[in-house]
Amino acid sequence: MTDFSKLVPAHVQKLASYKPGKPRRQAELESGMRCIKMASNENPFGPSPLAIEAIKAAAAEVNFYPDNSVTELTARLAEIQRIEPTQVLVTAGSSALLDIMAWTLLGPGLNAITSKLSFIVYPIVTRATGAQFIEAPTVDDGYDLDRILAAVDVNTRLIYLANPNNPTGTILDANAIDRFLDRLPSHVITVLDEAYCDYASYFAAERGFAYSHALDYVRQERRVVVLRTFSKAHGLAGLRVGYGMGPAELMGYFARMKTAFMVSSLGEAGALAALADSDHIQRAVQTNAAEAKLLTQAISDMGIRVTPTWTNFLFCRVGEDAAGLCRVLQDDGIIVRHMSGSWGAPDAFRVTVGTPEQNQQFLGALKRAVSRIPA
Ligand SMILES: Cc1ncc(COP(=O)(O)O)c(C=O)c1O
Repeated sequence: MTDFSKLVPAHVQKLASYKPGKPRRQAELESGMRCIKMASNENPFGPSPLAIEAIKAAAAEVNFYPDNSVTELTARLAEIQRIEPTQVLVTAGSSALLDIMAWTLLGPGLNAITSKLSFIVYPIVTRATGAQFIEAPTVDDGYDLDRILAAVDVNTRLIYLANPNNPTGTILDANAIDRFLDRLPSHVITVLDEAYCDYASYFAAERGFAYSHALDYVRQERRVVVLRTFSKAHGLAGLRVGYGMGPAELMGYFARMKTAFMVSSLGEAGALAALADSDHIQRAVQTNAAEAKLLTQAISDMGIRVTPTWTNFLFCRVGEDAAGLCRVLQDDGIIVRHMSGSWGAPDAFRVTVGTPEQNQQFLGALKRAVSRIPA
């Protein structure tokens, strides 16, 4: 018998694989009842009807390979953002681009930095390359840019900043990022991961907050890659379409590392149609803002600490055993995500803001669950 562990590098054997929010069907089988999934920060209103139509139309031609260069969507994104198509790379979700960036720029002896309590794909893609993954301490559940700067050394190649951050929902001020970038040495590239930018922009306008200068950096060809996705406000998580924007030369290197035909024809068609439906996005972000406020208040009233959110989910600290609470919620038909394991916060869970009806059901279940926990 072959001992496969002898063939696989030690750093790969040590990797933890990505653990997604529990799929609804699995939870329903476990709990024996219908469940609402509020665990993966998806758009609870579904995809735009225009996207559904476009996907149906494109389905008739799936006997053909898709356009490897995703030409039409790339051109449209460049036009919307007033940048060159060479500065845009569309991939199978932004996670795929995180992977590509790591394989292009990292390797043994090099490192990437982010903060504790950040997106769990960052350690996975970094460590897969054999590079070191460094987590700086947080401040108020968010990034501490000074501590991240202090961790930079000659071997640093990437810094990941999720803005807003997943799982804590915190935001970084655009001016603070300006100052941060000015202080970075020239061998470091900053990934500004703006998966939740539609939600954040809405909150920022409402609260008079300077959210992001990310596209200015791209237009100035600075050492920044901005990540966006169609998985969140656009409601297309199952289609797997995301993109990055950055210096043309760098994006060209990333393009060489992309698997052939990575983005499906259905994905490109759906994303193009979703871009055209601004009403759908507007409804999602507007309802989200109102519901996030309501949920924050109601959850806080139950004695649970909620980190103020700038996105479509809430980070809630319940005390010792958040995983236990999540199991009780699932048996009551609600799937949320506990933050133990790689997320690093066993006392917390994260709940995605749902439709108004879903949120009421969640609050009812949470109230029942909390009343079962001895004080
Ligand atoms: C911060 C952040 N970045 C990137 C992604 C990846 O999104 P996708 O691969 O679906 O585009 C997510 C998804 O949850 C996220 O929370």
